This record gives sequence, C-alpha cells and structure tokens, in this order.
Amino acid sequence: MLSQKRAIYEYSLEAVLDGVEGWFFQNEANELMRLASEVKPPYCIVEIGAYRGRSTLSICKGLQEGVRFYSIDPRLPCDGFEFKSADRVVFEKNLATWNVQDLVFPISLPAEYVGWNWQKFYDTPVGLLFVDGNHSTQNVVNEIRAWTSPASEAKWMFHDANGETVIAALAQFDNLVTLKEVDISRVCELRKG
Ligand SMILES: C[S@@+](CC[C@H](N)C(=O)[O-])C[C@H]1O[C@@H](n2cnc3c(N)ncnc32)[C@H](O)[C@@H]1O
Repeated sequence: MLSQKRAIYEYSLEAVLDGVEGWFFQNEANELMRLASEVKPPYCIVEIGAYRGRSTLSICKGLQEGVRFYSIDPRLPCDGFEFKSADRVVFEKNLATWNVQDLVFPISLPAEYVGWNWQKFYDTPVGLLFVDGNHSTQNVVNEIRAWTSPASEAKWMFHDANGETVIAALAQFDNLVTLKEVDISRVCELRKG
C-alpha cells in the first residue's frame, strides 16, 4: 500500500466500486486488487480497457509504493457498445472521488500499438497485464502478440474469458498457462523458455 493517506484505503473495495458502472464483478475486482498488490518495482501494471474505472480503482487500491500504473483506453466502440469520450469524463470523475488521479497514467491509444512500442517509449517490464478492451478474436490475438515481449514475466488477467471470441483467441497460444479462473476472468502466465 502507498504511504500517503487516502480515503480509498479506508473503505472496502465493494464500497469504492459502489456506483461505478461496468461489467466487472466483485470477485474479479478482489482478485485484480490482490494481483496488483503482488507487483513490486521495477515492474509496472498495465490495464487494457478501463471504461468508467471499475478495474482501474481495483488496481489503485492494491497498488504498491513505486509501481507505475498505465491505463490504456482509446474510448472506441467495440463489442456492440458505443464507448466514447464521455466515458473518459466519468472515469476521471470516479478517480477524483477517491483522489487517485496521480496514481494512474492514462494512454488514449489502441492497446495493440502501445504494446508493439512499449520497449521504445516506456521501457518498464510489466508485472501485471489486465486485458479487457476490444474482445474480438483478432484484436485479442493481436494484443497478446504485441504484449508478449514486455509482459513476458507478467501475470495476465483476461476478462470475459468465457466468451467465445476470447476463448478462440486464447486457444491460439499454447504457451499461455491458466493459473486460475475467477467468475468470467482467467489468470494466466506465459510458459518460460
Ligand atoms: C468492457 S469495457 C472495459 C471495462 C472496464 N475494465 C471495467 O472494469 O469497467 C471495454 C473498454 O475497451 C475500450 N477499448 C476499445 N477498443 C480498445 C483498444 N483497441 N485498446 C484498448 N481499449 C479499447 C473501450 O473504449 C471500453 O472502454
């Protein structure tokens, strides 16, 4: 936990997420917070797909001193939903409610492109990669390819991993080992060597 006193640490995660819209279940939020708390510098945390901040706030609550947290979301329509910049406004309001704006570095670009360019521009090994952006099979496949190098030592948490498009994407990578399943999320790591 970070040394500075913040209200987010005084309340349960359930209370923090109360009223924050989204599809991220409480059990999954608890697991994401726990995974985030295991990441130590020099490793960083990357979130793909933030919407209005349920997963973002879960990570903030588990975030340890000195760990950088990047939240990637271009606010683009996908999966039949009209995601748009207005969601970003609500996201910022939700972060401000808990005074955690300075813990999160937002990146408004498609996650695949950020992944391919990670080493060039960010150069920090990823310890936790949360994947909940565009769930089409091709996009998830592209993201896994783009993030394999920067997140080679990371835990990967895939949301909506029970959906047929994500199942089809994950099936293409026999080096992704499943560690556990929580509701509709799957926690994986890349097999070494
Ligand atoms: C299911 S929502 C994320 C929900 C969020 N994790 C939560 O806890 O509420 C999917 C998000 O992915 C974003 N998105 C769409 N295309 C994307 C892309 N190429 N890269 C990253 N995010 C993307 C959308 O803007 C949307 O906010």
